[in-house]
Amino acid sequence: MAIRLHVNIDHVATLRNARGTPYPDPVEAALMCERAGADGITVHLREDRRHIVDRDVERLRETVGTWLNLEMAATDAMVAFAARVRPDMVTLVPERREERTTEGGLDVVGHRAAVEGAARKLVDAGIAVSLFIDPDEPQVRASAETPARQIELHTGDYCGARSLARPTELSRLGRAASLARSLELDVAAGHGLTRANVVEVAAIPQVVELNIGHAVVADALFGGLARAVKGFRAAVDRGLALRAR
Ligand code: PXP
Repeated sequence: MAIRLHVNIDHVATLRNARGTPYPDPVEAALMCERAGADGITVHLREDRRHIVDRDVERLRETVGTWLNLEMAATDAMVAFAARVRPDMVTLVPERREERTTEGGLDVVGHRAAVEGAARKLVDAGIAVSLFIDPDEPQVRASAETPARQIELHTGDYCGARSLARPTELSRLGRAASLARSLELDVAAGHGLTRANVVEVAAIPQVVELNIGHAVVADALFGGLARAVKGFRAAVDRGLALRAR
């Protein structure tokens, strides 16, 4: 069975917004990811718009040819935005303004009505829905009772676990994935994954999609840094040559 690799390009926008320049452009990054074999592009439109902004999502909708997955909170304003822009999928995530990143999964058990309401509106608008949840049985069972047909298991605890606790966290993910599949939910996973720790998550038989962002952008930086320095060396040397004229 194939496994879809979706690249989250939020942190291309983080770098752009740090200076308020038009570059690096997330749309250009999305095209590069697709050309390199990504099966989809994921972005998180946060309420504080700290990285991806509304216009980015609109432009991505016009340019992404694979699959556009929009992560967002289950608020009326976000649901209205998604219904207008029409990504292929919405992943509902919890959101706290002060958090550095999405720290836990959506509490579907505790906020059943709100999650169900948002998911229903999105599905009625023709958008597939995924719920980003912790790998725990009650959350998986509650998710299966909503209109969402996919869950994304939060891999943060597995990624953050010390080596002794890793196998426990991995089996927790495996159990949740197996339960979800038995309830006919598609299973995605993501958060905190790196080239090293993704291998065991990709080996979980029920996982059909991975969403990975921060570590891809970090790897891209180191993969491209030497080339960037050489490019600047050449540009500076062209200036030096002009002096000699
Ligand atoms: N999946 C979801 C639902 C997320 O919220 C995030 C972070 O935005 C990711 C995956 C990607 O996490 P990371 O950037 O750590 O790879």
